[in-house]
Amino acid sequence: MKVRKAVIPAAGFGTRMLPATKAVPKEMLPVLNKPCIQYIVEEAVYSGIEEILIITGRAKKAIEDHFDRSPELELHLEQSRKSTMLTEVQAISDLVDIHYTRQKTPLGLGHAILCAKSFVGNEPFAVLLGDDIIQADEPVTRQLLSQYQDTDRALLGIQPVPTKDVSKYGIIEPVKGTAATNVPLPVHRIIEKPSEAEAPSNLAVLGRYVLPPTIFDALEDTPVGHGGELQLTDAIERLAALNLVDAYQFQGIRHDIGNLEGWLKANLAFGLEDPNLASSMRAWLADDHIRSRLASF
Ligand code: G1P
Repeated sequence: MKVRKAVIPAAGFGTRMLPATKAVPKEMLPVLNKPCIQYIVEEAVYSGIEEILIITGRAKKAIEDHFDRSPELELHLEQSRKSTMLTEVQAISDLVDIHYTRQKTPLGLGHAILCAKSFVGNEPFAVLLGDDIIQADEPVTRQLLSQYQDTDRALLGIQPVPTKDVSKYGIIEPVKGTAATNVPLPVHRIIEKPSEAEAPSNLAVLGRYVLPPTIFDALEDTPVGHGGELQLTDAIERLAALNLVDAYQFQGIRHDIGNLEGWLKANLAFGLEDPNLASSMRAWLADDHIRSRLASF
């Protein structure tokens, strides 16, 4: 069965990026001149996804406006003969069929995914977290979908992280004796944000999942977990106990744009690859004044 649908949870407050996120949803913060959520939607579209549900909350109206037509702006661009910009702006609203639903109370990622139950129905679906932008030659969701064989199973996108960072992520324990990196690994166990001592590995789930519809039953049976929230990881652990979870180490550089350091690094990394910016950014970084400032830290 082809995976046609994707869910993008985007209801969080973005407190780590305050005050920028006081009136602007964190998903609308730009990396270069594009809002973060557009990178995520484009990844889904370039991976063959046909329908997207974005889980929003209060104060997230700008996300809907961004993917809608903008008659006044389009008229202005047309009248001022800015045809390239006009095409670019129109292309955003033509990207894909996007639906929205609100998570009325912030009860965690698992609860946000439960809000997608009626949209998803009885099909496997992709999940792309709104905070994680991944720079990759092949879109990461497409990498996962090309490995996804069995519609009863979950497939998690993973990468190794430094041991000191395991407490920020869902961490998997592969089934003993499995260590290949270019095929899906069967998952024995998954733990949400373990301490260094508890972590069974340094393989972290980094914001990309393909999930079977049975995840909704698992979520409904899962008690509140880490941080007093309903954790998606805990529901996935229920599937892992039935040997129904695999993890795949994707190729790409992941940026957590939900914090200042990750957002700044994402801007630098994308800037250094942008054909219009790369040479001036490289020249700026090589400038004597900047180099001596960098060397003085
Ligand atoms: C969420 C998930 C966690 C995952 C992480 C990836 O955590 O709960 O399992 O590893 O996203 O970014 P959050 O960053 O929302 O705290």
